[in-house]
Amino acid sequence: MTASVPVIRIAAAADAPALAALRRAWTAEQDGDVDDEGFEARFLDWFEREWGHRVSWLAEVSGEAVGMMNLVVFDRMPRPGRDAGSWGYLSNAFVLAAYRDQGTGSLLLRALLGYADDHGYLRVVLRPSERAVPFYERLGFSAYNSLLVRHRPA
Ligand SMILES: CC(C)(COP(=O)(O)OP(=O)(O)OC[C@H]1O[C@@H](n2cnc3c(N)ncnc32)[C@H](O)[C@@H]1OP(=O)(O)O)[C@@H](O)C(=O)NCCC(=O)NCCS
Repeated sequence: MTASVPVIRIAAAADAPALAALRRAWTAEQDGDVDDEGFEARFLDWFEREWGHRVSWLAEVSGEAVGMMNLVVFDRMPRPGRDAGSWGYLSNAFVLAAYRDQGTGSLLLRALLGYADDHGYLRVVLRPSERAVPFYERLGFSAYNSLLVRHRPA
């Protein structure tokens, strides 16, 4: 149990290593330690390419990154007469296991949704794990069944 309230902020370019460390911690939780020396370099390269249409939030406790959340922003095709607007896809929501169930994820989600509302995004979309559904429902998400998905053929 941790007592400190996490600081939530938008990640800067210099935070890419902290985000990569969280990604590695998430993978280790799911699959055990994965031997991939090139991962951090690939992550930094990817982060640089994503810059401009992806916003990432970090949760920090005593300067240590303990959680993250990401929003990929899609600008819809312009149309004559009115602004077509933008929307966001929420991904990579992760809080280190030792810091879960203490409200950190909700702080990240509130920050992300505040940003989305401030920018007038029409909707925020995500594909939750079953366990996380109540987490998102508490902050206004609901099921939406009008999407079609085509998976890569086996
Ligand atoms: C989802 C997650 C970011 C929430 O962060 P958090 O700091 O625990 O969030 P909060 O303390 O604000 O809220 C707790 C809620 O998170 C959800 N949650 C808790 N543990 C979870 C887990 N292992 N996986 C998914 N969701 C979880 C639950 O809905 C919980 O509330 P509930 O027990 O009343 O249902 C965090 O649990 C996590 O990193 N889970 C593992 C990674 C993951 O599954 N990410 C994708 C989710 S779509």
